[in-house]
Amino acid sequence: MKITVVGAGNVGATCADVIAHKELANEVILIDIKEGLAEGKSLDMWQTAPVNYYNTRVKGYTNNYEPTAGSDVVVITSGLPRKPGMSRDDLIATNAGIVKSVTENIMKYSPNAIVIVVSNPLDVMTYCAYLTAKIPSHRVMGMAGILDTARYRAFLAEALDVSPKDIQAMLLGGHGDTMVPLPRYTTVSGIPVTEMIDGAALDAIVERTKKGGGELVNLMGTSAWYAPGAAAAQMVEAIVRDQKRIFPVCAWLTGEYGLNDIYLGVPVVLGAKGIERIIELDLTEEEKVLVKDSAAAVKEVMNVLDNMNA
Ligand code: LAC
Repeated sequence: MKITVVGAGNVGATCADVIAHKELANEVILIDIKEGLAEGKSLDMWQTAPVNYYNTRVKGYTNNYEPTAGSDVVVITSGLPRKPGMSRDDLIATNAGIVKSVTENIMKYSPNAIVIVVSNPLDVMTYCAYLTAKIPSHRVMGMAGILDTARYRAFLAEALDVSPKDIQAMLLGGHGDTMVPLPRYTTVSGIPVTEMIDGAALDAIVERTKKGGGELVNLMGTSAWYAPGAAAAQMVEAIVRDQKRIFPVCAWLTGEYGLNDIYLGVPVVLGAKGIERIIELDLTEEEKVLVKDSAAAVKEVMNVLDNMNA
């Protein structure tokens, strides 16, 4: 098993590190455009192997895709992160060109790979990779839902003073302020969350989740990496171990949820083939409106990309 992570910035390096720790592959290739960065970070990671007892060989290269040949899974994290005051959508002009060229290089050497996009604006960069890769949509997906539900679950665990392991949650929509956390599909060890927390406190947690990325940008002056990197690695794990896990994943919709030709976060079954199934939930009218609004926000930015390519 061979995994490539493109982008040796904070998110890419964290993702590669988690993949190595979990021994999800024999080899992890880290690529960056900045001379020496991927080489240095991967050498540093490899030197943790004797301490942390793993075998995965992490190797880094500057702008050289040849060593990525035959990758089973590729994670694309390249692009600029947000700065305070920016929305994820502000990154489109810069990051679209980067994601396009990275995807071309990846496909040249690994035509059978499953591609996971992490670059922002997430839903639209996943669409960009899909247009460029020209492979079936079940092999091109975006990571956002695991991160967004992780934030939601972490906030709930703290508020309820229980283990984060015992919070299960689902979320729909784009990776932006219109994302739709679903309290009706949130449980604490099987107990509906609404039986554990009052409505106002839950609403506040839902709101904090929607702006969870921005909260971190404001604190650090750049976007987050530990949770995004770990979340992307969890998708890699589900694929390489054929776990058939159910996660919210940014997927290409062809009629599901009444939506067509759009990349949007929905529950999927993730296994060796990539997105093996999209799960359609029976939403209330109120939830449907929220998903529709979120889809409209994503579509608007997809149109910006289409016009750039036209
Ligand atoms: C975040 C960025 C990675 O939500 O989109 O932290």
